[in-house]
This record gives sequence, structure tokens and C-alpha cells, in this order.
Amino acid sequence: MLKDKHGRTINYLRLAVTDRCNLRCFYCMPEEGIDWLGREELMSYEEMLHLCSVFVKTGIEKIRITGGEPFVRKGFMPFLTKLSQLDGLQQLTITTNGVLTAPFVPELKKIGVRSVNLSLDTLDRNRFFAITRRDELPSVLETLEQLLHHEIDVKLNAVVMEGKNTDDILPLVALTKDLPISVRFIEEMPFNGDEAHAKSLGWDHVQILETIKEKYPAIYKLVDPPFSTSFNYQIPGHKGNVGIIAAYTRSFCGTCNRIRLTPLGDLKTCLYGGSVLNFKDLLRSGATEEEIQAALYKAVNQKDLNGWVAEKNNTGRSSLSASMATIGG
Ligand code: 5AD
Ligand code: SF4
Repeated sequence: MLKDKHGRTINYLRLAVTDRCNLRCFYCMPEEGIDWLGREELMSYEEMLHLCSVFVKTGIEKIRITGGEPFVRKGFMPFLTKLSQLDGLQQLTITTNGVLTAPFVPELKKIGVRSVNLSLDTLDRNRFFAITRRDELPSVLETLEQLLHHEIDVKLNAVVMEGKNTDDILPLVALTKDLPISVRFIEEMPFNGDEAHAKSLGWDHVQILETIKEKYPAIYKLVDPPFSTSFNYQIPGHKGNVGIIAAYTRSFCGTCNRIRLTPLGDLKTCLYGGSVLNFKDLLRSGATEEEIQAALYKAVNQKDLNGWVAEKNNTGRSSLSASMATIGG
């Protein structure tokens, strides 16, 4: 088992397979002038599979694939299929923006992906364009339909942005009336690839909940599953539920069970922290399985207590001006 020095079991890996994306969500990356990573710098699928198999032997039980947008990387589905066959892996999930995903949903179901996080910040086509700088709402909604049709659990993730989509909170909540989905509102974090645009929090989890409560006074708190990053709520009579993720406030760090691998192979033991080790370099230097395991044990052990400590200790290149697309969303 993988444990950190604070006694937490680490069994959840978030793997970003690419930094590239077909949207330009303004809270994530600038519209232009992005320095994409070169192909040689990225880990190959073979390298990722190798690492994942060693990680799973070392105690990782759940893997979530993120990006960037996973489906923009060539060969993603064959990679995911191979990953799904890893011995000992209990859960494989993905986070996607849904632009290219709809046609792959039956295959996702077939290989055992039981839950998908779909990023969607608004149901309004104009606002969707304003936020993502692309006119792709219809394809995202098609993905949502396909996921529901194939009975894959859907978590719909919406970043709440002051002055951009706070009017979308209630329409998104209203989706839970007839759809068995979890709609989750996320506090905006400072990772937008642009130092100048780094800022303090606009809407926090308290304000989001108050807004929902005003319209649905009977909403009540659910018992949060272990390791949940969201505070979860139910509106009586609704098929789905509502979650609020205090990603900026960082109130969930105490039970953190996760680590992250960036497309470059950097291991991050906290979203707010720097890279603690590069696994691509380790692999390419010919490290054995035992050496990889030892490096993972050691790095995980040093995991910071919470996102505030990690942020304070993070003085490296990948500071708060980094984009979620290179950290692994
Ligand atoms: N703040 C909060 N969440 C973010 N994401 C990306 N950038 C940010 C940010 N600055 C999350 C969103 C998006 C997913 C890919 O990453 O939930 O849907
Ligand atoms: Fe792409 Fe997700 Fe970043 Fe939006 S938030 S630009 S969908 S990686």
C-alpha cells in the first residue's frame, strides 16, 4: 500500500494524457500563444501503460484520465482499452469536455468505464461560446445524451465564474430534476495559464449553496462518500443530486488520496504543488520496476498535508500560473 507521512492511503492516480485541447476555456488557458508540448516531450502510451501497471502493483486502485482533452490525442481509445485490462485496477474513469466523445460512448461502456466527468459550465449556446471560445455546445449535449443512454454515471462539472455564468447555476441544478446525474459546481481556481489573470476567489462554496437554497429551500445535505471532494446535496423529488467542490477553499485536503501525473511524466502529489519527480526521465534512464516502485513510495511519503502548504512550498516553474491542462484537471 502507498501511504504518506500523514497516514493517508494513496490509491488514486489522475493521469493527464495530453496538454492539448479543442476548447479554450478562459479559466484554463489563454486563447492564443500557448506553448504546446512537443511529441518527444510527452510520455508515449507505452510508457504510460508501463507506469500505470507498476503503480497499480504498488497500491493504485483507481485511475482517472484527464488532459487537456483526452480525446484529442491520437490513439486514445486503444490506449484506454489496454489500460482497462490492467490486472488489479478497480476503477477507470475519464474527465472530458464532451466535444469528440459521443461516438465513443458505446466503446467506453464496453471496456468498463462506469463513470464519466463531463465539463459543462452553461446550457446557453452564446455563453458556452463566450467561456470556451468555441461553438461546441451541441456536441457536448450529444455526449451527455449518449452517456445517459448507455447508463454510464455522469458527473457534470461546472466552474462558477463571477460575471460569466452565475446565472447558469439554477438551470444546471434544474437538470437534476429528471436526469440521474450529479451536477457539481467548482470554485474557480487560479490555474489559467496566465499570471496576469491570477486572482482571488470570486464565488465561494457558501455563496453557491445560498443561491441554490433560495430557489430550493428544501435541499438537504447528503452523507458524502469517503474521499469525496464535493459537499453533496439532494433536492427532494429530484432524480439527480448537486455537489459543490471547494477547489479554491481547499476544505477536502484532509482525506486526500490522490496523486497526479502530467503529460510530461511529472509526478505531482498535490494540485497546488510543484513536480516532485519525473517518471518519464526515470523510465528512459532504464529504471527497473523495483526502482520505479521505490521512487513512487518515497515521493508519495513526502506529500504535503494540504493545498495551502503545497502552494507555499511550490516555488518552482510550475507555479500558480500553470494551466489545468498541463497539471491534469
Ligand atoms: N478552476 C476550477 N476548475 C478548473 N478546471 C480547469 N481549470 C479550472 C480552474 N481554473 C476544471 C474544470 C474543467 C476541468 C477540465 O478542469 O472542471 O471542467
Ligand atoms: Fe480544455 Fe478542459 Fe481546459 Fe476547457 S478546462 S480548455 S475543456 S482542458
